[in-house]
Amino acid sequence: MTLTTTPHPLQQLISDRVLAEDLACEFGTPLYIYDADRLRDNTSRMENAFSGSFPKSQICYALKANSNPHILSVLLGAASSLGADCSSPGELYIAQRLNIPPERCIYTGNYESPEELKTALDSGVHLNLDDSSSYLRLRKISVPKEISFRLNPGFGKGRFPAIVTAGREAKFGIPREKIIDAYRLAQDDGVERFGLQCMTGSGNLDPGYFVELLSAILTVAREIEESLGITFEYISMGGGFGIPYKLDESSLDVSELFESLGKVFRKFYDRNSPDTPALFIEPGKYLVADAGFILSRVTGVKESYKRFVGLDAGMNTLIRPALYNAYHRILKIGEPEAPTTQTVDVTGGICENSDRLAVDRDLPTLNEGDLVAIMDAGAYGYVMATPYNTRSRPAEVLMENGKPRMIRKKETIEDIFAGCNWNGD
Ligand SMILES: Cc1ncc(COP(=O)(O)O)c(C=O)c1O
Repeated sequence: MTLTTTPHPLQQLISDRVLAEDLACEFGTPLYIYDADRLRDNTSRMENAFSGSFPKSQICYALKANSNPHILSVLLGAASSLGADCSSPGELYIAQRLNIPPERCIYTGNYESPEELKTALDSGVHLNLDDSSSYLRLRKISVPKEISFRLNPGFGKGRFPAIVTAGREAKFGIPREKIIDAYRLAQDDGVERFGLQCMTGSGNLDPGYFVELLSAILTVAREIEESLGITFEYISMGGGFGIPYKLDESSLDVSELFESLGKVFRKFYDRNSPDTPALFIEPGKYLVADAGFILSRVTGVKESYKRFVGLDAGMNTLIRPALYNAYHRILKIGEPEAPTTQTVDVTGGICENSDRLAVDRDLPTLNEGDLVAIMDAGAYGYVMATPYNTRSRPAEVLMENGKPRMIRKKETIEDIFAGCNWNGD
C-alpha cells in the first residue's frame, strides 16, 4: 500500500486555468473531460500486474463504468487482449461494435428477460447467470454448451453499503448453500463446460479483502468440482478494485495484490495442469475513474441556514453523491491546492433537495463564475447522468497530447424530445 501524498494524477490539467476556460468556451459547462494517458497508464499497470501472476488470465473491462466507445478504444489500445464485462444488451452491442472477441467477454445480467437471455446466448460470450431461475428461463430457449453462475458467498464489502453486492441483503447471486444444485441442474441437462463468477462489492482498497475473497471463491469452486466431477474453464472474481477518492487514502498496489492472489490461486490449482481454470477479473472503476473529471462553473453562492455553492453541474450530471453519499474531491481550477476558507454544501440547479455534490465540505473561496473540477468522475459518471428536469446531458471530451477531442456532443433539448414523435400541435 502506498499513501496518496502525491497530487491527483490530473493535477496538471486542473492547474491550467487558460485551458479550462478554452474548453468551457468551446464545449460548454458542465463538461466531462478524460485524459487518454491516464486511461492507458491504468490499463497497462493492471494488465502487467495481473497477467504475470496466473497461468491463464483475462481482464474483462466492466463497461457499466463508462461505455463511451472512444474510451473503450483507448483502453483496447493499451491492452490489446482486453475483454469486456457486459450487463445489458446495450453493453454487449458496444463490445461487439468494437470487435472484442466473444471469448474475451462475460455477460452478467440479473432478473434477465427471455429476450435478454437470447441476445446474450446468441452473441457467443461467456454467459453468467444470476440464479437457477434464470437458467430455467434460458433452457426454454436453448440448453447452452457452457454456463456460469454468480456466487453469493454470504459476505461482501464495498466502499459504502449501497455498493456491497453480496451477503444476506444483496439481490445478486446464488447463496453458497444452493450453488451446487444450480450446476447439477445444468449438468443433468447436458451442459458440458462451466465457469464460476463472483462480485461482492465496489471500491475496495484493502488488499487483504481480495485475498480473503479469492480464497472463499476457490474453496467453493473446489467443492462444486469435487461434488459434480466437473472442472471450471474460468473463474471470475469480479471487479471492485478501488481508487483513493480522498487525498489521505492509499491507492491499491496492484503488483503486490496480484502477486498475493497468485499465491492463493496456486494453493488450489496446479499452474502446469491443462485443467487449470483461467482467472478473470472485471475492473471498471480502477481503469477509468481517476482519468475523468467534470468541469463546472459556479452559478451562485447563497447564505441560508448553511452556505451553498451552486454549480451548473448537479445530481443530473453526477448522481453518485446524491444516490449514495459518494465523496468526490472538488478542486478550484487554476488553484487546485488553494487553502480552504469555508465549509459549504455544493449543489446543482435540480429541483430536489438531495441535489448535492458535497455536504459540509471545506473548500477554498469560490465566487460566481469560477470554474471547478469534480474529480474522479470517469467511472459511473456520464453513464448514470440523466435528463431530469429536462436538462441536457453534457458533452464528453478526450484530452490527447494536450488537445481536446469531442467524443460525445452535448445533448440538445430537441434530442430529449426526439422519441416523442410530436410535431408541436
Ligand atoms: C458483475 C460486475 N462486474 C464488475 C463490476 C465493476 O466493479 P468496479 O467498477 O468496482 O470494478 C461490477 C460493478 O458493480 C459488477 O456488478
